[in-house]
Amino acid sequence: MALLGCGVVGSAVARLLTEQADDFEARIGAPVELVGIAVRRLGRDRSAAGVDPELFTTDAEELVTRADVVVEVIGGIEPARSLILRAFEHGAGVVTANKALLAESGPELYAAAEAVGVDLYYEASVAGAIPLLRPLRESLAGDDVRKVLGIVNGTTNYVLDKMHTTGAGFGEAVEQAQALGYAEADPTADVEGFDAAAKAAILASLAFHSRVSGNDVYREGITEVTAADVQAAEAMGCVVKLLAICERVEATPERPSGISVRVHPAMIPTSHPLAGVREAFNAVFVEARSAGELMFYGRGAGGDPTASAVLGDVVAVARHRVLGGRGPGESAYADLPTLDMGDA
Ligand code: HSE
Repeated sequence: MALLGCGVVGSAVARLLTEQADDFEARIGAPVELVGIAVRRLGRDRSAAGVDPELFTTDAEELVTRADVVVEVIGGIEPARSLILRAFEHGAGVVTANKALLAESGPELYAAAEAVGVDLYYEASVAGAIPLLRPLRESLAGDDVRKVLGIVNGTTNYVLDKMHTTGAGFGEAVEQAQALGYAEADPTADVEGFDAAAKAAILASLAFHSRVSGNDVYREGITEVTAADVQAAEAMGCVVKLLAICERVEATPERPSGISVRVHPAMIPTSHPLAGVREAFNAVFVEARSAGELMFYGRGAGGDPTASAVLGDVVAVARHRVLGGRGPGESAYADLPTLDMGDA
């Protein structure tokens, strides 16, 4: 296995893989050998990963050619996209946590994986540790999903929660989130809703068996939410949450796809289960015709929780390679029709 990236998630993946090596061997039927970790610069303190320093390399292009399974936790579009395509060309299965890339190029990546008959898994790209994508693309594949609604960004949930519980303004709450390591030094992707919009696009694609990209998602972040808004919501018995909402709606000439996907702040009554989602947790409701309402809840961000989802995918991909054949659900992102989503 090759690991691309050694930040918070990458170092947790490397450490947990090393600590649980015997368990993985038993579950897969063969050992998982970490053959290298690609980083942008050598020389930094990488002791959190708990691996042999000789494993680090800056030559990611070479590294992906000598692994059966490539784990991409670099994030962003490039070089992640090119490296994943190169890994496929060399016959490797890929596990990625990269929601921005999937929201932009998911179907293309799936088609590339399909073309060479290898796996692409991405459970960690939405809602961290919460098993959500596999239930959507496999367990609910025989149902008719009507709506997916929830909190899919831990940083903004933490910020809004602090604004409610401490009376802090937006800027002060973001500083608290940064001090705790939830928000990045540049929190734009979180607070402007880009991260949640990419996740909503992935959820809608899987839920509605249609190609939805990040650009199809109406997006409004939380930067305009003030302490006064929070107080006004409380006076009405509500809390403010950043929601991702994917739903089937009546098709109209303006929205011929019959699908609406949006991310925006919303007031929720304190009696609603989503109102009780505190700090950096995530929660997602799924409504399906036969299953009714389902709720998924857990840690949506952070090194170990996200590594849990990554490593689950590593086990799945490695099992397929050891046992032969391929598992269920791989074609979910392939050959998706492009729908006219109207104006986001
Ligand atoms: N920045 C993301 C969040 C990380 O806060 O939810 C997990 O995708």
